[in-house]
Amino acid sequence: MDRNSAERHSNNQIGIRYASPEDVHAIMHIWNTNISNTFNTFNSNIKTESEVEDTILERKKRRFGFFVAECDRKVIGFATYFQFRSGIGYSKTLEHTIFVSDKIQRHGVGKALMARLLEDAKRKNFQSIFAGVSGSNERAVKFHASLGFQVVAELPRVGYKFDKWLDLILMQKFLQTGQRNDF
Ligand SMILES: CC(C)(COP(=O)(O)OP(=O)(O)OC[C@H]1O[C@@H](n2cnc3c(N)ncnc32)[C@H](O)[C@@H]1OP(=O)(O)O)[C@@H](O)C(=O)NCCC(=O)NCCS
Repeated sequence: MDRNSAERHSNNQIGIRYASPEDVHAIMHIWNTNISNTFNTFNSNIKTESEVEDTILERKKRRFGFFVAECDRKVIGFATYFQFRSGIGYSKTLEHTIFVSDKIQRHGVGKALMARLLEDAKRKNFQSIFAGVSGSNERAVKFHASLGFQVVAELPRVGYKFDKWLDLILMQKFLQTGQRNDF
C-alpha cells in the first residue's frame, strides 16, 4: 500500500455497510486467499460464488450481521456472525468470522468492522460472541484481545489442514452490561 492510501485509511475514510450480493467477488477473493495460503482458517475448500451469495442471503434472512468495509468503493474486508453451535439452546450465543485484505493490515479496518458487528449483535440482545482462532494465528489472538475478548479454552489438535494439526483457541466476549467481562 502506498503512503497516501495508508493515510486515507488512518484518516478513518473506511465505510462499513451491510454486505450485498454485488460484493460476492471481492469477498471471495479475500476469503479464498486466506483459505488457500494460510492457517488462519481450518477450511481448505475454496468458496464458490454461489456459496458466498447464499451465505450473505441466509445471514440477512436470519437477521445475522454480515458487514463489509470499503475504501474508495473497494471492499477491503468483511465480518459476519452466526450461531455458535446448532440447536435452539445456543440461539443467544454467536461466533464470528473476520477477514481484512492482506494488503491493508493494521490500519484500523478490522477494528471498524468489529465495532459495527458487536454493536449489531448487542442491539439484537445476543449474550456473547466467540472467535475461534487458529493456534498459529498470534495476530488474531492479539487483535481480539485488544477488543476485550478473553481466551476461555484451548483445544489441542482439533484442526487439520495441509497435513498439519492445529490447535483452536476460543475467545469470548460478553455483549450485555453487567456480565462477566463487561469491558
Ligand atoms: C486479524 C485481523 C482481522 C485484524 O485486522 P486489522 O485491520 O489488521 O486490525 P486493526 O488495524 O483494526 O488492529 C486493531 C488492534 O488489533 C491489534 N493488532 C492487530 N494486528 C496486530 C498485529 N499484527 N500484532 C499485534 N497486534 C495487532 C492491535 O492492538 C491493533 O490496534 P493498534 O494498531 O492501535 O495497536 C487481520 O489481521 C486479518 O484479516 N487477518 C487474517 C484473517 C484472520 O486471521 N482472521 C481472524 C480469524 S479468527
